[in-house]
Amino acid sequence: MVDAITPQDSPVPVITIDGPSGSGKGTVARLVAEALEFKLLDSGALYRAVALASLNTRVAVDDTAGLARLALTAPIDFTTDNGTGNVAVLLGGQDVSTQLRAEEVGDRASRIATHAAVRDALLDRQRRWRQPPGLVADGRDMGTVVFPQAVLKIFLTASAEIRAERRYKQLIEKGLSANIGSLLADIQERDDRDYNRKIAPLKAADDAVNLDSSSESVSQMVTKVLDLARNRL
Ligand code: DC
Repeated sequence: MVDAITPQDSPVPVITIDGPSGSGKGTVARLVAEALEFKLLDSGALYRAVALASLNTRVAVDDTAGLARLALTAPIDFTTDNGTGNVAVLLGGQDVSTQLRAEEVGDRASRIATHAAVRDALLDRQRRWRQPPGLVADGRDMGTVVFPQAVLKIFLTASAEIRAERRYKQLIEKGLSANIGSLLADIQERDDRDYNRKIAPLKAADDAVNLDSSSESVSQMVTKVLDLARNRL
């Protein structure tokens, strides 16, 4: 018997970039997608949007059924500004891109992401991004669970200390106050949850290329990923 062809088997190429919070995967993914003129899926933004929807509608962090319903039905859209190329996330038609970056939302996203029902509900939403001419998807389980047939899988890491320093600089540049010790503790707590959860934990796929961004610039990382991608496409 011939198996039915699913979107997963279609020839549209996917490049996955997984890694912990602050490893630079979002920036690298965006620049690689731009260079290849591929679509871009920021799966963390989807988890964050569900987290924000749960805060807005007061669905508790342990209400599995309520959270799964939100993951299936919350009116989340992504729009791209054709002038700047910036992607905005809309929730119920409202641009919530800035709100999604708040620590509170990231922390809640990491908590709701531990529910298998929420992850299942988001699978289809994520796979629908696989469209011609290709997709770059970044997150935690893009290469292991969502797009296991990706042509190139990258696992991008950086030490927790370097990631805390980067976050500190970003906040100071925005004129916000920040404490490096508590940023490091937050990152370690989030890592612990992302790496050690039972369902789809953060880990490199067996066939992933491991890259460490601790002492490399964004452009060096992008060049490396593009070289690998061009070899495989
Ligand atoms: O990449 P990010 O920091 O925006 O993601 C926020 C949280 O969402 C992260 O701590 C864990 C969760 N997440 C996930 O579990 N799986 C993904 N593919 C992406 C994000």
